[in-house]
Amino acid sequence: MTSMALKISVIGTGYLGATHAACMASLGFHVIGVDVDPAKIALLQKGEIPFYEPGLDTLLAEQVQSGRLTFTTKFSDVADCDIHFLCVGTPQVTDGLAADLTFVNASLEEVGAIAKDGSLVVGKSTVPVGTAARLRARLLEINPKADLAWNPEFLREGFAVEDTLHPNRLVVGVTNDRAEEILKEVYASNIAENTPWVRADLPTAELVKVAANSFLATKISFINAMAEICEAAGGDVTVLAKAIGYDPRIGSRFLQAGIGFGGGCLPKDIRAFMARAEELGASQALEFLREIDSINLRARQRVIELVRRDLTEDLRGKKVAVLGAAFKPDSDDVRDSPALDIAVQIQAAGAIVTVHDPKAMEPAAKRFPVLNFAQSIEECVQDAEIVLHLTEWKMYREIDPLALKSYVANAIIIDGRNALDREKWLEAGWKFRALGRA
Ligand code: UDX
Repeated sequence: MTSMALKISVIGTGYLGATHAACMASLGFHVIGVDVDPAKIALLQKGEIPFYEPGLDTLLAEQVQSGRLTFTTKFSDVADCDIHFLCVGTPQVTDGLAADLTFVNASLEEVGAIAKDGSLVVGKSTVPVGTAARLRARLLEINPKADLAWNPEFLREGFAVEDTLHPNRLVVGVTNDRAEEILKEVYASNIAENTPWVRADLPTAELVKVAANSFLATKISFINAMAEICEAAGGDVTVLAKAIGYDPRIGSRFLQAGIGFGGGCLPKDIRAFMARAEELGASQALEFLREIDSINLRARQRVIELVRRDLTEDLRGKKVAVLGAAFKPDSDDVRDSPALDIAVQIQAAGAIVTVHDPKAMEPAAKRFPVLNFAQSIEECVQDAEIVLHLTEWKMYREIDPLALKSYVANAIIIDGRNALDREKWLEAGWKFRALGRA
């Protein structure tokens, strides 16, 4: 079988699946995306994506146009595929810390029922360690001639296409050489680019993903803990981060202090990891992640404390402008967004909160209709008694503070992301507050 003759299905067409499907098609494979949501599939069939991800819209439209990429709601349509990538979501359960495996389990049953002999199911979803072995055993019960491997995904929202086409490493959890050989065919272009290739067993492959996300979360909470100390001691966390980042053993990335991490991955992954460790009788090893989570959530409270300090303890009727709703820039994802969490808490304290975001207003309004939304920065800050900068979009860094001053009631800004040019805002006559900077 030549690699381009490989037929691929991608099950689950969210951020991960839609991106993976479009990228695989762009490499020349025939790809069919499967999802149980008919509305999503109808949109994708037209070459459109139901969320904002730079570059993905064009790539996906091109691939649909080329005929290499199609979408379906029927598993029977992918029965002749050689490889099935499982890309369904594993959100946090509503009544605990663990990951909800409903979609993973259901899609394994569906794909198992149609998988042809010799086909390979490849899990990409983030799952609790042990899931892959369990799913493999179940798959072999349904079809002893199919196989299952695990191939975690490390893409960042906002850079999804780049990270999928040119990952910084490929990790494959396999139980035999044949599965690895098939995956080497799929990723031949990356292998040609010398992308590091790590073969692992199934549990290690699953663990690589949650370990990486735990490390990143730890790095962010570490610098946010230093921000708390800087505030208490009169230091400046941005200078501190720069200085420690020059040590190559530490590195400067992911040391941006501020309101902390959110999104669909980091928060739920560290919690699911703790829940799984407890099941394994190893909870002590991950006790520190509890603290990482607490530091992260505390950063949001510190912004609210700053608002109270600069306005009044009683926030009822106070006009607050919030710049940013997405959990990070270049994304319209508002899942566990620190920015929106702060906006909602201030609103619940009685303030009148108006939010602006260049891309995430629709999903934010859907989730929190109680907030006010403004179409422009100027409209958002009109008569505001305090302005909060909570997602570091480029357009906010380019604001002219002098011009903006004429709209607000009080020229006070809290930079929740340590991303604005403090000197410029001070020169324009603003009171400038930031986390971790005295
Ligand atoms: C993350 C991982 O980076 C990725 O490898 C994995 O596949 C999925 O989870 P993502 O959720 O897209 O990706 O966001 P990321 O860029 O990691 O940022 C996560 C959060 O941390 C954001 O809310 C961001 O604002 C925050 N962050 C990031 C900081 O507060 N400080 C930093 O220095 C870096």
